[in-house]
Amino acid sequence: MDFELKKLTRSLICSEKTDALVVLIPEGMTPGDDPLSTLAALALKSGDLEAKPGKLLSAYRCEGIVATRVVLSGVGDASPKNIRTAINAAMSGLKTSNAQRVMVCLSAIENLPPAAVRAAVVACSETVYAYSTTKSKPVPGKLQRVLMAVNDLTSAQPAFDKAIGLVKGIELAKEWANRPANHATPTLLAGAAKELAKLPRIKVESLGLKEVEKLGMGAFIAVAQGSAEPLRFIVLRYEGAAKAEAPVVLIGKGITFDTGGISIKPAAEMDEMKFDMCGAASVLGTFRALAELQPSINVVGLIPACENMPSERAIKPGDVVTSMSGQTIEILNTDAEGRLVLCDVLTYAARFKPKAVIDIATLTGACVVALGAVRSGLFSNNEPLAESLAKAGDASLDPCWRMPLDDEYADGLKTNFADVANVAGRAGGAVTAAKFLQRFAGEFAWAHLDIAGTAWKGGAAKGATGRPVPLLLEYLLGQVAAEMSAKPPSKARLAKRSTPAAKTQA
Ligand code: BES
Ligand code: MN
Ligand code: ZN
Repeated sequence: MDFELKKLTRSLICSEKTDALVVLIPEGMTPGDDPLSTLAALALKSGDLEAKPGKLLSAYRCEGIVATRVVLSGVGDASPKNIRTAINAAMSGLKTSNAQRVMVCLSAIENLPPAAVRAAVVACSETVYAYSTTKSKPVPGKLQRVLMAVNDLTSAQPAFDKAIGLVKGIELAKEWANRPANHATPTLLAGAAKELAKLPRIKVESLGLKEVEKLGMGAFIAVAQGSAEPLRFIVLRYEGAAKAEAPVVLIGKGITFDTGGISIKPAAEMDEMKFDMCGAASVLGTFRALAELQPSINVVGLIPACENMPSERAIKPGDVVTSMSGQTIEILNTDAEGRLVLCDVLTYAARFKPKAVIDIATLTGACVVALGAVRSGLFSNNEPLAESLAKAGDASLDPCWRMPLDDEYADGLKTNFADVANVAGRAGGAVTAAKFLQRFAGEFAWAHLDIAGTAWKGGAAKGATGRPVPLLLEYLLGQVAAEMSAKPPSKARLAKRSTPAAKTQA
């Protein structure tokens, strides 16, 4: 889809030729003397429209307005959240119409903050997105172009450009997450990462079994050994700052299908376990966005990718394996495989002397029970990191919620046969999983995002959400801002900043 931002007053909007006009109507809107304002004022006065988010009024061939269709959409106080609601409501109707070009008018909102612009762009992409890779004919999505109209470009333009980068990241994450497991094998996932290496400042390596054996990743290998599909360990680098600058490391769980292994899962909804690589997809998506926006920061992405299958070669309950850290692990439940692939990569992450390590994983059903589909679970051993991530989540409408890490939660992981077991009892399952990971998060600042409830939707609207790409990107861009204010820019840094500008197409 094509996005464009334009400065247009309400009276100019009336004379724009477009298939549909979506006009966001805030509470207490200052009326103008153009036909659009007259229409809105009339509809509000008669009670046929309310300026509340989700309230709509559609009109066709209106007097004095060139656009064919007009959708007035209440937006309340025009908060980013309400903007999302208003655009989702208005655009879902248009999605099934013949409209190809839509103009979204934000001009009635005064002092439009950057977060509102981003919310508008992301919401448009959300409603228009359609998966089509494994359909025989492409899905006939008619909407092709969104033109966004604002009063003032000074702050809207940079926010808009950032949002375009974010949308590209979200859409890449959704694409790979939505692909069925036979179209998104570890090898294909590594191929997707390699594609990213064509973009500026991105380097990608992908390691196979031999190399991972040499590293001693016994826990990761143990999960992969049940499948005929070879494992991949994908290492991405985004080099936006000086080499000496410590990177943020993102680790994405990349189980391309989770059957549960010998501790096999029930049949109902097992298809959804193709989404067990949503952590990995979010890392790929974040790198896509970084490539677009070119911030001056270093980021490393690490993806352990494999299938979790039952077979004559699969791990069995009670097997003990040796992790890269040297700690031995008793695998009491082969379905708790995510923590096994992640623990070795946490150990590996230390070699980057990272500023922070964030793992992103569809780790536990227990986290879905605890937090549902609204907030991701956030666990961290570091206060400033936890606070930055929580803030980034709220600001980007991709929220998370801090969960505890008291040592008592690790009691259930004790075993007579190894240093640690991979499961504790049922109680507090999201926390005990995080406690397992924490043992491997050496000396660095670490956070774990359990996205089991937020990364995809089930039911009729089954599909990936692209979360937590918005949270991760917001956090990373915030790190650049923090760095900039911490030290004055050096000459080298200033030179680095004059690199390819972001293009405006998604
Ligand atoms: N990928 C699943 C977690 C999951 C389950 C996410 C359902 C979303 C919906 C993970 O590998 C898993 O199977 N976890 C087990 C852990 C248990 C065996 C301790 C779970 O949550 O049941
Ligand atoms: Mn599992
Ligand atoms: Zn899993």
